[in-house]
Amino acid sequence: MTHILAIDQGTTSSRAILFDKAMRISATRQKEFTQHFPDSGWVEHEVDEIWASVLETCRGVLADMQLATSSVAAIGITNQRETTIIWDRRTGEALHRAIVWQDRRTAAFCDDLKAAGHEELVTARTGLLLDPYFSGTKLRWLLDNVAGARDLAREGHLLFGTVDSYLIWKLTDGRSHVTDATNAARTMLYNIHDGCWDAEICDLLDIPMGILPQVLDCAADFGTTQVFGGEIPIRGVAGDQQAATVGQACFQRGMLKSTYGTGCFALLNTGDTAVTSQNRLLGTIAYQLNGKPTYALEGSIFIAGAVVQWLRDGLGIIDAAPDTQALADQADPTQRLYLVPAFTGLGAPYWDATARGAIYGLTRGSGPAEFARAALESVGYQTRDLLEAMAADMGGLGETVLRVDGGMSASDWSMQFLADILGAPVDRPEVLETTALGAAWLAGMQSGVYPDQDAFSKGWALERRFEAQMSAQEREARYEGWSDAIRRTLTR
Ligand code: G3P
Repeated sequence: MTHILAIDQGTTSSRAILFDKAMRISATRQKEFTQHFPDSGWVEHEVDEIWASVLETCRGVLADMQLATSSVAAIGITNQRETTIIWDRRTGEALHRAIVWQDRRTAAFCDDLKAAGHEELVTARTGLLLDPYFSGTKLRWLLDNVAGARDLAREGHLLFGTVDSYLIWKLTDGRSHVTDATNAARTMLYNIHDGCWDAEICDLLDIPMGILPQVLDCAADFGTTQVFGGEIPIRGVAGDQQAATVGQACFQRGMLKSTYGTGCFALLNTGDTAVTSQNRLLGTIAYQLNGKPTYALEGSIFIAGAVVQWLRDGLGIIDAAPDTQALADQADPTQRLYLVPAFTGLGAPYWDATARGAIYGLTRGSGPAEFARAALESVGYQTRDLLEAMAADMGGLGETVLRVDGGMSASDWSMQFLADILGAPVDRPEVLETTALGAAWLAGMQSGVYPDQDAFSKGWALERRFEAQMSAQEREARYEGWSDAIRRTLTR
């Protein structure tokens, strides 16, 4: 038993990563799949394509290493969260494309529920806001709009799952209909305090509870797969942002990580306390081990790395993402441009779905370099917005250190600005694949091949610390400018 296979099923691609006994990466495969936008604000994935991409990448890494399944101690799964699938338990066939977390089709329904005064109950039980982001209203939409779905549910043939749950069902050939507590916590149907599906919310959304999966710890026995030949147990599962929190070893209350992919997701470990945010953050489960949940406050922003894609594909002012830094370095330091990348609205802590992007402070001297700098800076400012909200919820954050990962964390320029605008150190670990590592560690630890939580924490290694260098006066003046830009962009 020399390896752990991590499956990272993300929003734009599926990846398989093989980790060796020392938790080093030995092989990686990645496969992108099609994004479907059938209507304004709708985002769907073909479920068969997700499954095929997972099979292909897993088979690929096993072949790359010429590894027999008997050498793989366990599988760990991490996944895009909230994305919603229903299928027929007799065939394993999905009844509709997966409705992706970004999909806003249930916005009006959420507004109706809010207007009827239901948000308070939903937040109190689930830690979440009444927003289309989460699975609950997407599942309701599927039940109401897919012909025959409700009949199948009544007859006991219909199952619901987030992507982890569906993959486990397929991997175990229909033997396990399970999920883990972190994925359950993103459905808006799960009571994070009592650790069970919430009958009252299911009733409110008219969701039959028989279609919901059983909820397990993040390190547990999720079933055994035979699809790669011999038997491999599935022993670790966590939603991708929670897996990154684990991979970053944020195991102590007050520890904080931020992942910079297309968007940015910051999670603050709040220990045993499920904090109900007064500042429009989300309360969620960071991980659950030995039946004990550890909670987190989460801030989600929709556009982080995507702003660099926009510089490349929308404006055409860079050829490749890494060029942004060099261009930003040429910017005139006396100009203060603020780019608010509200391309798809604003996430936490504003939750303004109708806001759209804006740029402030343009002069005749503003050009590509100033745009590039403003784009990179917007990521730092948005992160500070999240940390300000967290500090307000927690009565201060104390001596904060932010652990970063994800593609954009490779940019020294962005990480230095982040440290400057936060006025706090930013730590970049040696292993940037923290999401896959988190899933692998959960599975490996459960299998006895990887160290326990303490030893894993001690093994977390720093690659570089970015210390704040900006004066406090400049920091606050700049942040005030950003806050003003936000005020002018908000639509409500
Ligand atoms: O909540 C959505 C998040 O889990 C998606 O992450 O990395 O697949 O974009 P990612």
